[in-house]
Amino acid sequence: MIAFGTDDSSLPVKGIDMDLTFASAFSDRTPRSRELFERAKLTIPGGAGSTARLPRNGWNPYPLFMEQGLGSRITDVDGNEYVDYLLGLGPDILGHRHPVVTEAVTRAITEHGTSFGLPYELEIEASEKVVATVPGVEQVRFANSGSEAVGQAVRIARATTGRRIIVRFEGLYHGWQDSVYWSNHVDLDQAGPADRPRPVAMGLGVPAELGETLVVLTWNDAESFVRLMEERGEEVAAVITEPAVLNTGCILPEPGYLELLRSETRKYGAMLIFDEVITGFRIARGGAHEYYGVIPDLTTYAKGIGGGFPVAAIGGTKEAMRLIADGTYSHSGTYNANVVQCAAVSATMDLLAEPGLYERQRALGDRLARGLESIANDNGIDAYVTGLGTVFQLWFADGPIKNWRDAVAHTREGVFTRWYEEMIVRGVLFHPLQFENLFVSLVHDDRDIDDTLEAASGAMRVLAREFAKA
Ligand SMILES: Cc1ncc(COP(=O)(O)O)c(C=O)c1O
Repeated sequence: MIAFGTDDSSLPVKGIDMDLTFASAFSDRTPRSRELFERAKLTIPGGAGSTARLPRNGWNPYPLFMEQGLGSRITDVDGNEYVDYLLGLGPDILGHRHPVVTEAVTRAITEHGTSFGLPYELEIEASEKVVATVPGVEQVRFANSGSEAVGQAVRIARATTGRRIIVRFEGLYHGWQDSVYWSNHVDLDQAGPADRPRPVAMGLGVPAELGETLVVLTWNDAESFVRLMEERGEEVAAVITEPAVLNTGCILPEPGYLELLRSETRKYGAMLIFDEVITGFRIARGGAHEYYGVIPDLTTYAKGIGGGFPVAAIGGTKEAMRLIADGTYSHSGTYNANVVQCAAVSATMDLLAEPGLYERQRALGDRLARGLESIANDNGIDAYVTGLGTVFQLWFADGPIKNWRDAVAHTREGVFTRWYEEMIVRGVLFHPLQFENLFVSLVHDDRDIDDTLEAASGAMRVLAREFAKA
């Protein structure tokens, strides 16, 4: 571990060092990232390939520029090594550059090529393995990103049911397509009452009239969902949800909630879409289907399915896929199911089948999560963990969080920011925002957890001086 920051609790002032603010301490250890960010801004709008990587999304004072990742560790361009719980925002489920997946992709390119615009056998192999891995997924089409998969799933639901309305929930993110880019981290001043929220577009350029094609609800609120279905169930094409909300920290479904979504959609002839872009292949090998035992009509996948390679998928029952199968519905794409994707998926599915892998890594994630929670509490800081083993969040919150509105009411985002700052300078990388989460890969090990808990002890002592209960 890189020793940085101070956990000397005798220091009278807050922060990393008596004389240095976090920003200056960070810049001292990352001069090359700072330089590269200035250079990047000249030719890349904002300075990075995704708005999510910019200071306005928490990466202050500028994003780290990365040199290489291997397994559970990642190194920035200044040579600082981090235990990585960002994992590319989720996809690196097997850590960085897993040799088996890298080899499979390299071999497939060398032996076959990259894309044909026609089918080939490896595509069948990849889809067979996905179908064998996930209970209730009978057929699968590969795509290129989670947003794309969600856009297709929503449209398939509309095509299949002949209905227009999509039900989605506040605080969940389903990608950037116009049809669903609504009411994610919505400003509650604009969002209307909790029992009848108003859809709010999340970005400029989203046509306002699409709001009429959506109903937005409060998650984990059975009553408002049942009422909506009673009132408008016959108009609903699909209900889309993450099975656990991993785009607002980590919020778990109340017992029976997912089952209720399933039974009500069935009752009214609407489709249920699980957006398993994060949970898929992560919370269990068969994702939420296996973990919660609830089988939706359609499921979207991305992060995780390709072991770090860019691939997404739409999975479903044969019944849900029938319009694609008979050609009535066109799901097309030049890069769909290209060789890189299918080789990555096939090798990843093989690796995920290792007996005991998920049990072991969930236990490891739990050890980390509980360790962080107790270190926080031992330091007098109000914090608790919610999680699913290999993905969790440490909430700096003064109350239970069941949905977006609770998250807004109870979290202390400023404390989280300081937590992130104190950890990054101690060589532990995770997302700087409270409403994201920590990912543990299937190759993290006890040494990673030990190093992280040691860093956390120092970081929490600093936080204690700033935020502990009197
Ligand atoms: C649940 C969920 N759905 C969809 C998406 C969009 O996926 P992508 O970024 O691959 O377009 C994300 C991305 O974070 C996600 O978390």
